[in-house]
Amino acid sequence: MEKRAEKRRIVLVPVAAQGHVTPMMQLGKALQLQGFSITVAQRQLTQISSSSQHFLGFDYVTIPESLPQSESKKLGPAEYLMKLNKTSEEGFKDCISQLLMQQGNDIACIIYDKLMYFCEAAAKEFKLPSVIFSTSSATIQVCYCVLSKLNAEKFLIDMKDPEMQDKVMEGLHPLRYKDLPTSGFGPLEPLLEMCREVVNKRTASAIIFNTASCLESLSLSWLQQELGIPVYALGPLHITASSPGPSLLQEGRSCVEWLNKQKPRSVIYICLGSKAHMETMEMLEMAWGLCNSNQPFLWVFRPGSVAGSEWIESLPEEISKMVKDRGYIVKWAPQIEVLGHPAVGGFWSHCGWNSTLESIVEGVPMICRPFQGEQKLNAMYIESVWRIGILLQGEVERGGVERAVKRLIMDEEGAGMRERAVDLKDKLKASVRSGGSSYNALDELIKFLNTE
Ligand code: UDX
Repeated sequence: MEKRAEKRRIVLVPVAAQGHVTPMMQLGKALQLQGFSITVAQRQLTQISSSSQHFLGFDYVTIPESLPQSESKKLGPAEYLMKLNKTSEEGFKDCISQLLMQQGNDIACIIYDKLMYFCEAAAKEFKLPSVIFSTSSATIQVCYCVLSKLNAEKFLIDMKDPEMQDKVMEGLHPLRYKDLPTSGFGPLEPLLEMCREVVNKRTASAIIFNTASCLESLSLSWLQQELGIPVYALGPLHITASSPGPSLLQEGRSCVEWLNKQKPRSVIYICLGSKAHMETMEMLEMAWGLCNSNQPFLWVFRPGSVAGSEWIESLPEEISKMVKDRGYIVKWAPQIEVLGHPAVGGFWSHCGWNSTLESIVEGVPMICRPFQGEQKLNAMYIESVWRIGILLQGEVERGGVERAVKRLIMDEEGAGMRERAVDLKDKLKASVRSGGSSYNALDELIKFLNTE
């Protein structure tokens, strides 16, 4: 793609977590390819490596730490986030002030993760345009808007009624009240308060999503009306940027050699992202079910992801042996490459948004085992809207795991899901090609950044 912008600087402010840093860096790369210079302002907690070969030429500055991570355990995620935003304003203003002094007045825009809304105070003070980047789906932003208007007490009473839980929200088909992502953020009131902060007080001039209109056209149009600012759906950004994310953990590449020895579409790939935790019992039932399915499997077993264990030492000898015979375990995999490997026939995922997009881009159907918050909503879309996966609900037990793997890899039902996944993959790939919706949205964003 030819460069269409003057070389001006964009300051990116990610959240310090793999699932947020990845799309932010990919957005930076996409903008760099369009001629912008990129500065990443990271809190000390983000260990983005400046040596990553995919992001050469990026500059990095540190936002002084204003709130220790240990506070998150005392406060709960929603309250921690709000406090972090309150305490980070001044440090970020200093950062921007220094950047402006060093580099002249050439900051085109501050693009910040929607959860890092402290950036707005600096944008306002230095009269710089700001743009929000929502790293998850557009539909989750719709939910934030709905949640920001709810009364906690009334909602909790309403949700005791099963009819209400299943009710589709007016004008928001297929979203039901029970799809609102209220778990994993602690008590309800702070979550609603956080949604009000994230949604209501913004003065940003636009919002960017890592999604495409072929996936979420209704949510995108709804947001365009509701928010009254330009909405740019640029995804999937790993395609636009031709780049995987910066890996915060060391990748084990030996699994690709193992995949090379497996039959086409035979392997189930299991990965629960960078945050999810399991109990030992759940992990053991998964292991039994996978072994009993007789399908080969590649399992990303993140260190510390099973309560009370450092890694796989809690696997009993008997299962350990079976796992070695039928599967392959790594601590962290080159996920995009794995999903694109011809041997992979299915993806057992926690349904983080990045994993969801990466799976669709490779046309791989999924087994959904969401853990918290928006992952349940993504899983609902995968199973019921796009119909490219199977949702595993309730307690995980070996029989259910075995059946789900067989349904996905061997049955006609799974073949249908794969067909639809491949169809969606083609649409997604078309959206980032010249003339496609994400391609055009990037074009419009560049024009917008150049005129702001
Ligand atoms: C978190 C939330 O859990 C998720 O719901 C939200 O959408 C983003 O923030 P995370 O749990 O890490 O993210 O999941 P996900 O969004 O899927 O991102 C994980 C990223 O790590 C993906 O880009 C994936 O390719 C990468 N990854 C994961 C690897 O490269 N290798 C691995 O072994 C595992």
